[in-house]
Amino acid sequence: MTAQSTQIHPATPAGAPHFHFQQGVLHAEGVSLEHLGKTLGTPLYVYSRAALATAFTSYLEAIGTHKVLVCYGMKANSNLAVLKEFARLGSGFDIVSGGELARVLAAGGNPAKIVFSGVGKQAWEMQAALEAGVKCFNVESVPELKRLSAVSTELGMTARVSLRVNPDVDAKTHPYISTGLKENKFGIAIEEAPAAYQLASSLPGIAVVGVDCHIGSQITEVAPYLDALDKLLKLIDELAGLGIELKHLDLGGGLGIRYDDETPLAPKILLDKVFAQLQARGYAHLELVLEPGRSLVGNAGVLLTTVQFLKHTEARNFAIVDAAMNDLMRPALYEAWHGVLPVVPHSSATTLYDVVGPVCESADWLARGRQLALNEGEIIAIESAGAYGFVMAGNYNSRPRPAEVMVDGDHYHVIRQRETFEDLIRGESCLP
Ligand code: LLP
Repeated sequence: MTAQSTQIHPATPAGAPHFHFQQGVLHAEGVSLEHLGKTLGTPLYVYSRAALATAFTSYLEAIGTHKVLVCYGMKANSNLAVLKEFARLGSGFDIVSGGELARVLAAGGNPAKIVFSGVGKQAWEMQAALEAGVKCFNVESVPELKRLSAVSTELGMTARVSLRVNPDVDAKTHPYISTGLKENKFGIAIEEAPAAYQLASSLPGIAVVGVDCHIGSQITEVAPYLDALDKLLKLIDELAGLGIELKHLDLGGGLGIRYDDETPLAPKILLDKVFAQLQARGYAHLELVLEPGRSLVGNAGVLLTTVQFLKHTEARNFAIVDAAMNDLMRPALYEAWHGVLPVVPHSSATTLYDVVGPVCESADWLARGRQLALNEGEIIAIESAGAYGFVMAGNYNSRPRPAEVMVDGDHYHVIRQRETFEDLIRGESCLP
């Protein structure tokens, strides 16, 4: 065991100004997280409505009067209440499945602001999206183009299409969340794009409207975006020579957030450079589409969990908590770093802990090697859990998924009930 003296609690958790300490207790806006955890039980996802709005507004301020549609990459957090907030703020949505389409429609999102991405769209998903009237399909391969043409022709409709090209750009992020490299499964190789566009223009039921790329997630540098943009603009030049005119350019690739000591890139820093490049190349008239997910929700949420046991072994000290890899998969899957904060810090004498869950896997950890002062029974917050947290949760070890709560000022709303044992076995049956 190692003990050292540290500041009992920071004034504001890293990168999340709507989570702060008030009289020694961590709050989301005006609501005590200790109160929430004790009242509603843990594990519990807690989001801040104001944090969602602030993040969205940082895009709007960066956009100013430019023609830009922000399509929230809803895979990051698709709770209906979250979608509704972004719909209210005027956001569009980037969807990747028929299920996500159904969620946007259920939340009252505008279908005319939906772009449909994903490498494996099925015919029924295409049909549902056509019938809903989505803005465009981001088509990722020639076979997909042909299927979409067949589906829309059959329905007597026209599918607006943007080809997702793979610009072969290194986003310098975790290999699992890099999407714009040649070896990734996404998009059409940029060299093959002109031929694919010519095919698209000739197919029935297809109207070519744009070009799209997505280079990866948790990006903290401008250069990969500008490289991708440069390649897309060269392609647009080439397409113009072939008589193919585009209306929009979708520059996908998610801005990073601060988990630990990253320096995130503000939307304004990126967009000023993008607008300048569009202007310089004579494409200021093109509508720009963005697909941010993580940067809109990541630091708007925490996962509350209660310390069950403190287990000291010869090699390690374990804080065994009631949240696990099934609730927050990012550490197990990407060795991702999430901050850990006791909700009511009580001591400055810390011990080096691995924070682990009850699941029967050694990969079941939430944080490793952290200096923490912990007592059994206390609630801790796993930070930056608003993106790719609940949405990636599962039921491994027959663990019901957590409840989700949205704080709004001094109030809170349960926006998803905790799963029950009945939920877990719904749809299962035994042989007669
Ligand atoms: N649009 C498309 C087509 C995407 O593939 C993604 C993310 C986004 C938008 C949103 O990107 P963001 O702004 O969130 O970076 N589960 C991983 C992240 C996977 C991201 C995949 N694509 C994680 O927990 O880090």
